[in-house]
Order: sequence, then C-alpha cells, then structure tokens
Amino acid sequence: MALSSPFNVFASYSYTPKPKTFLRDSKLLSRSQQLNSFPLASNSNLRLTRSRPEPVSSLGTSEIDTSSSSSSSSSTFRNKIPSEVNILVVGSTGYIGRFVVQELVKRGFNVIAVAREKSGVRGKNDKEATLKQLQGANVCFSDVTDLASLERSVETLGLGIDVVVSCLASRNGGIKDSWKIDYEATKNSLLAGKKFGAKHFVLLSAICVQKPLLEFQRAKLKFEAELMELQDSTFTYSIVRPTAFFKSLGGQVDIVKDGKPYVMFGDGKLCACKPISEEDLASFIADCVLEESKINKVLPIGGPGKALTPLEQGEILFRILGREPKFLKVPIEIMDFVIGVLDGVAKVFPSVAEAAEFGKIGRYYAAESMLILDPETGEYSEEKTPSYGKDTLEDFFEKVVREGMAGQELGEQFF
Ligand SMILES: NC(=O)c1ccc[n+]([C@@H]2O[C@H](COP(=O)([O-])OP(=O)(O)OC[C@H]3O[C@@H](n4cnc5c(N)ncnc54)[C@H](OP(=O)(O)O)[C@@H]3O)[C@@H](O)[C@H]2O)c1
Repeated sequence: MALSSPFNVFASYSYTPKPKTFLRDSKLLSRSQQLNSFPLASNSNLRLTRSRPEPVSSLGTSEIDTSSSSSSSSSTFRNKIPSEVNILVVGSTGYIGRFVVQELVKRGFNVIAVAREKSGVRGKNDKEATLKQLQGANVCFSDVTDLASLERSVETLGLGIDVVVSCLASRNGGIKDSWKIDYEATKNSLLAGKKFGAKHFVLLSAICVQKPLLEFQRAKLKFEAELMELQDSTFTYSIVRPTAFFKSLGGQVDIVKDGKPYVMFGDGKLCACKPISEEDLASFIADCVLEESKINKVLPIGGPGKALTPLEQGEILFRILGREPKFLKVPIEIMDFVIGVLDGVAKVFPSVAEAAEFGKIGRYYAAESMLILDPETGEYSEEKTPSYGKDTLEDFFEKVVREGMAGQELGEQFF
C-alpha cells in the first residue's frame, strides 16, 4: 500500500547467466531438475549485476532490541554461501518487493518469489510480465491468502526454505483487506516458511505502527507480536519499520509542474518524514537476511538527510522547477468534518466504514510524522530516527520532473 499523501485519498540493468543449484534433503539438484518440479516456474536464469554504492548507515539508539538473546548459533544458513541460501519472498511484486527481489538476486541468494498470476496494481501484469519483472528469481505462482495452497506450492519446489522475506501489504488499506493480507496472508507465509525449515523471517512493516489508530496498523502489530513470540534459539526475525516512501510524496510533482499550487494541510508543518527510496530500503531489508546485528530487532529506518515537512518538500520542488513557491493551505479540520460525516453514516450503513477508514488514513498522514515517537516526550524525534542509504527526495523530484512518475504507481485507492 502506498501511503502518506492525504490529497490523493480525497480526490539499465545488465545481466549475466549464472547456473544455480538447489538443496533438497541435503542433495544438490541441478537447476533444470528443480525447474521441472515447479508447476508454473520461471525459466529465467538471469542474474542482475547492477552495482550500487555502499549505503551510509547511522543506525543507533532507536533500534529496539526485543531479544532475550541474539544468538544465531542454530542459524546455520548464515554460514552458507549466498547461492545456497533459499529465500522465499512474498509480496515480491509490490513497490518495495520488486526491489527486494532484485537486491537479493544481486547479492547471489537463491530467491523464490511468490506472485499472483495477475500481479501489480489492479492486476495489470500477466504471468509473462511478472516473470520479466522478477528476472533472476525463481517465480512461484501461488496464493498467499490460502495456507494449504501456499504450502503445496512450496512443497512442489522441492527445496528447504532458509529465510522468508515478507513485503506483503493490502493494496487498498481497507479494513477487511488489511486483516486478510497484513495479518493473515503474512502469517500464512510464516507458517509455510517454518514448515519447510525457515529459520529467519524479515518483515516489512511501517514506522507508523508506533501510534496505531488505523486498522492496517493494528493488523500489522498483531502479526509483529506473534512473530516476536516465536523467537527462540532456532528462529529469529527482523522487523523493518520504514518511514515514508518516495512514491507517497511525488503525487504533486506533475500538478505543480503544470503551474498549480502545492497543496498542504495547516501551515505545512503538521508532520515530517525522512523519505527513503525503494532501492535503499531494499538494500536495508537485504542486510537483515545475514547481519547478526539485525536479528530479533524492531528496526525503524529512514532515508538520508534531515526530516522534511510538507512545506519543505514543496519548497524543494519549486526550487527544482525554478519557480516562486505557491502554496494552497487547507485546514485540517476539513478532513475531520468529512471523517465525522462518514463515521456517522457508517453507523447506519456499515458498508461506508471502509470509506471512513480511507478518510482516516488520509487524516493520519496529514498530521502524524513518520519519525520515531519518543515515549518520554510523546513527540516525534528526527534525531532518534535512523538514516540509511544515499537517495534523496530532491534527486527523486528531479527525476520525476524529467521523466514523470513511471514505476511509482500508487495503490488502488490512490494512496
Ligand atoms: N507508502 C509508504 O510511504 C510506506 C511507508 C512505510 C511503510 N510502508 C509499508 O510498506 C509495505 C509495502 O508497501 P508497498 O508500497 O511495497 O506495497 P504494494 O506496492 O501495495 O505491494 C503489496 C504486495 O502485496 C501483494 N498483495 C496484496 N494483496 C494481495 C493478495 N490479495 N494476494 C496476494 N498478494 C497480495 C501484492 O501483490 P500483487 O502485485 O499481486 O497485487 C504486492 O506484491 C506496506 O506494509 C506499507 O504499510 C509504506
């Protein structure tokens, strides 16, 4: 789900072929043997070789170590070479999931990407397009919402799973779909992974769950809690809670380019975030597979540089366009009014509850910062929010001004 643009609520790789092997009952199977056992497997054997500069990490005090012991003595997959580490990626076709697959493939892991036969926003990608998008990975078409079906698909692969990475998220953020995907389907992937030997689970969550006022946040928190409970000497996890994604902040670039004002709530300083790019976040998530320092931790993470308010984001955009800033300030109370009306109507017509939830999501991202919430002060803290990576929002805006928002599609409810 793409989040954090309340206005939307209301309104070259090069590759080289590389042979792969798969482990099954301690026996090495050739790639062609393995592929034959995939019902609908990709026959792509391409490995991406895109190089990427080392990210700058300023992880510090904000990591939440939830472990009683961070021992990985039983995590033998960490001693294997990457090509022998089997990683099941669910949510592989999402905005972040795609980049996570690419990054894991680039690092040499054996990636099994679970996908739907019609993937992407509103199912726009057929199987062929999905295989192309996930090249370098072995694509397993299955249904994460059905545990038995997912388990059958993993069984058919004929290999053990070492690590599960979940980038699953409800595409629309609605009440029912959030529980179905952010909780149930994610849990299915945990259960299926564990059944076939997974010893580590990396979860893409969200920093906003620290202040859960929305249904998708509650669904994510429930899964996080159950995942943490499973931690023992044989099973570990990493919970990644990023701040805002670039896609959620680029929605006004074209509008402003066309000469219209930048729209923001209140004085434009109601909230702030440290936006992170898809590639930087994917790199951080990939680090979580092997890095022992990221085991059994909740890991809030933002992009490089200072936190930016909507006002500052708008100023950056006008600077890039070489124009005088022109802002339209909308009172936040307008959203409260709309949500109040929808909540009232939902009491009589429960079907309106979903619409009210979308309004609440918009309100949340108009007023709540995507930064660490300091429990002592109750304030959001820029300083306590760790930074990672190199891509800046300014670079992203420059690219969108040049090339448009291609590849930055928002979810089904346009947030
Ligand atoms: N946007 C932000 O600024 C932001 C900030 C912090 C954290 N986050 C969090 O980051 C996470 C991922 O976000 P994203 O933007 O990458 O998500 P996304 O692009 O919406 O991708 C969602 C993934 O889940 C899969 N999925 C959804 N419904 C499914 C279903 N019924 N059956 C099977 N698969 C299903 C999608 O598969 P299909 O392609 O088949 O639909 C896709 O692979 C979310 O948890 C979000 O809360 C977002």
